[in-house]
Amino acid sequence: MNQERGRKVKKAVILFWSQTGNTEKVAKSIQTGLAEGGFDTTLLRVQEAEEMDFYDSDLVCIGAPSYSWHPPKPVDDYLKAKFNKYKKEGRVKINAPKIPGKNALVFCTYSGPHTGIREAVPVGKYLGQFFEHLGFTVVDEWYVLSEFHGSEENSTLGRMGNIKGLPSAEDLKRIRESARNLASRL
Ligand SMILES: Cc1cc2nc3c(=O)[nH]c(=O)nc-3n(C[C@H](O)[C@H](O)[C@H](O)COP(=O)(O)O)c2cc1C
Repeated sequence: MNQERGRKVKKAVILFWSQTGNTEKVAKSIQTGLAEGGFDTTLLRVQEAEEMDFYDSDLVCIGAPSYSWHPPKPVDDYLKAKFNKYKKEGRVKINAPKIPGKNALVFCTYSGPHTGIREAVPVGKYLGQFFEHLGFTVVDEWYVLSEFHGSEENSTLGRMGNIKGLPSAEDLKRIRESARNLASRL
């Protein structure tokens, strides 16, 4: 057995969907931080994760951009398919009892051109509900302001001002450190 100081090494999977690269950068920073914190990590696009069993991991991280304050359809379809499968297997229980040691981290990248972070929070809450219904504890929601690639207007004139180049190297470093800290707490 893989052991570290007599303890079983914990497993994390980082699932993400990304069209223009922002969410992918955040996902990779989370992976690096969790690995630095001692987790055995796997990074997967949701498109590659059909067969993946959430319950095989101690921590499931899931990230998506905000599209009209919703997750993009492929992410929604993925989570609904997983949820329906687990429901058929009887894993969705009344009162959603928490399963000790099963945790989820939600992250969302957004540009907030109209109303700021409120365009991202519904995505984080929505993603988190799938995991809470499956008995996971949602340990945190991370919202990362990011450039709206392909739209100069939305990247410079929106509610959040000039967001070109975000997430910055500094943002990604902070995310990596937060992930490392999270690993040490779990
Ligand atoms: C079709 C589309 C719709 C979007 N809708 C929103 C939105 O409603 N609110 C928001 O804050 N950002 C919106 N964005 C910006 C993205 O959420 C943001 O740029 C995100 O970081 C992109 O992630 P990605 O690079 O991983 O694909 C939208 C982007 C696209 C392409």
